[in-house]
Amino acid sequence: MADSATGVALFELRGVERQFGRGGEVVVALAGVDLDVARGELLLVMGPSGSGKSTLLHLLGGLERPTAGCARFRPDPAAPPIDLAAQDDEALAALRRRTLGFVFQEFHLLATLTAAENVALPLLLDGIGERAARAAAERRLAQVGLAARAGHLPDQLSGGERQRVAIARALAADPPVLLCDEPTGSLDSARGQEIFALLQRLTRAEGRTVVVVTHDPAARPFADRVLTLRDGRLAP
Ligand SMILES: Nc1ncnc2c1ncn2[C@@H]1O[C@H](COP(=O)(O)OP(=O)(O)OP(=O)(O)O)[C@@H](O)[C@H]1O
Ligand SMILES: [Mg+2]
Repeated sequence: MADSATGVALFELRGVERQFGRGGEVVVALAGVDLDVARGELLLVMGPSGSGKSTLLHLLGGLERPTAGCARFRPDPAAPPIDLAAQDDEALAALRRRTLGFVFQEFHLLATLTAAENVALPLLLDGIGERAARAAAERRLAQVGLAARAGHLPDQLSGGERQRVAIARALAADPPVLLCDEPTGSLDSARGQEIFALLQRLTRAEGRTVVVVTHDPAARPFADRVLTLRDGRLAP
C-alpha cells in the first residue's frame, strides 16, 4: 500500500526470506515476503503458530536479518530508506532506540520495579536524567489509563494493566513505530479489546504506525488492514 500522505512507505520488504538452521535441517520461517507498511496505519498480521509472525516482526524491528531479499525502513520520508540487512548491530540498536517500541506477549516487566520505574528504565539507560525520565514515565502511564497505578509492582497489577505498562514502556522514548507480538496473548477478550482500542488510538490520534502480529481475531475490527501469514508467505 502506498503511503497516502507522502507516497513513501515506512517499511518496504521485497522477496524477504528467513531460514534457520536447526541441527542438520533448514527451517524456512519466511519464504518470500513482499510487504509495504504505510505511515500511520494499524496493520494486523494474523496466522497460525509457526507461520513466521514473530520472525517477520523481528525483521521489521532489525532484531534479525533476512537471509535473502531486501528489507528497507524509512523513518524519515525526506531521507533515503535504510537497508536493514546492511546495518551493523550497533547501527540497528541505535535505530531501534530512536524509532521503534516493542511490545511482547510476555510483558517482560521487571518484577522488583514499580510500573513507573519499568517505564522509566529505557530512558535512564538512554542517558536521560532521573527527573525527566520519571516525568515521561508518568505521562505515558496516564496515556494508557494507569496514572493511579504508577507505584504498583507488576504482581500488584492485573494482566491487562501489566500489558498497558508494557505499552507505556514501549512509548517511553516517543517512537513513531510500535511493533507488537501477540500483545493480548494472555488476556481475556474484554481486556484484549481495550488493548487494541489503545493501539488504534496511537495511530488515529497520534499518527504512530503500529504493526501487530497475533492469533487473536478480536483485533480485526481495530485494524486498517489485515494480512495473513501461512507457511512463511503473506496473503490478503
Ligand atoms: N531461532 C530459531 N531457530 C530455529 N528455528 C526457528 C527460530 N525462530 C523461529 N524458528 C522457526 O521458524 C518458524 C516460524 O517461527 P515464528 O516464531 O516466526 O512463528 P510464529 O508465527 O510467531 O508462531 P507463534 O504463533 O507460535 O508465536 C517456526 O517453524 C519456528 O520453529
Ligand atoms: Mg510468535
